[in-house]
Amino acid sequence: MTKNLIGTDGRLFGESHPGPDETGFQVDNTSVRYFNSPYYRRHKDQLQPVPPPRRDSPRMNLADVLDDAFISGIKQAGKIVFHAVGDTGAAKRSGPVTEARVADLMAGDLSVKGALAPAFFFHPGDVIYYFGEGRYYYDQFYEPFRAYDRPIFAIPGNHDGMVFGRDADVPTIPTLKAFLRNFCAAAPGPSPDAGGLMRSVMTQPGVYFTLDAPFVSIIGLYSNVLEGPGVISSEGGRYPVPDDQVQFLELELARLKPLRQAGERAVLVAVHHPPLSVDGKSGGTKGLSEDIDAACRKAGLWPDAVLSGHAHLYQRFTRRVEGREIPYVVSGSGGFAATPPRSGLPPAPVTVGSVTLVKNPIVAFGYLTVTTDARNLTIAFGSSNPDIPPDRVTVDLKRGLIV
Ligand SMILES: [Fe+2]
Repeated sequence: MTKNLIGTDGRLFGESHPGPDETGFQVDNTSVRYFNSPYYRRHKDQLQPVPPPRRDSPRMNLADVLDDAFISGIKQAGKIVFHAVGDTGAAKRSGPVTEARVADLMAGDLSVKGALAPAFFFHPGDVIYYFGEGRYYYDQFYEPFRAYDRPIFAIPGNHDGMVFGRDADVPTIPTLKAFLRNFCAAAPGPSPDAGGLMRSVMTQPGVYFTLDAPFVSIIGLYSNVLEGPGVISSEGGRYPVPDDQVQFLELELARLKPLRQAGERAVLVAVHHPPLSVDGKSGGTKGLSEDIDAACRKAGLWPDAVLSGHAHLYQRFTRRVEGREIPYVVSGSGGFAATPPRSGLPPAPVTVGSVTLVKNPIVAFGYLTVTTDARNLTIAFGSSNPDIPPDRVTVDLKRGLIV
């Protein structure tokens, strides 16, 4: 029996003896009824406040969570591997099985020996459907990932931040209350929502934050609660949302620029709503994309890749900007649903302006494995359906070109 990981301050990440997958929910998910109610529909276009981070520069280091031996292991190996996938919150009557298949494969990857084992999971949002309720955290997060013996970081998706309305059966709960409790706690410890499972709450400094790890930094943004578009700023007065996140992004890109240019780390942006998407529901998000671009231009640094969820399928685009090729990868395929792209899409590759949809979208559950040694960055998608071949892209970080 391998010993479980213990992080800094006694943090725990997984069960030492994870039991078999549960086949039903402990708490029946009834919030879809409210989600489809006329009352909620009247309120669904209301943006919610963004909780301010706990400190001015909301960033944390993987070394805040994992001990020196673990971090030196990554450094000695000369590369880091991590997982990413959004929309894991299986909430449908079909039960937890779609999410369990993905989560079990991810946990299985951890048994790989040495440096190829993922160091953490960065979740690009929609952890809990439909309203980020604390009472569903066991069924949709803690139980499915009970064997995932590594830290899990997350930025909220729209469902994590959506709020209940004023109704006899659905009390008003401030936006992101359970998300903050489980991912942005001031100190590690047990979660009241984990049903006794062993995973300490995560101690992110905010719902938007940078994770610095050996060889990689991930700047995570929170794109609010609408089905679409994703919103991270006022967009010049159009939305009642402050511009702090765009300023944060610009400052973080400027901070990371010398490290990136010295070949010390890859820089990724993660945001729930995809800037580029050919899904059938929301598509890409122009205002969000322009906000990110403006921050990159001001800072003089483009991210090496942009990771998103929200659309329930796998999509990979290449965007060409200022001589660089940047993968924009959408993987909202973590278990909630697998939804086809918009109809009438021509076969890939499809180029519109500076953007190419490189692959035909994959409509299947699955997840991303990201590997970087700060010279190359590889993003691979693997499906929980073994009949679906994997996809992968590698960027030469110095040249900024896909190899
Ligand atoms: Fe979403």
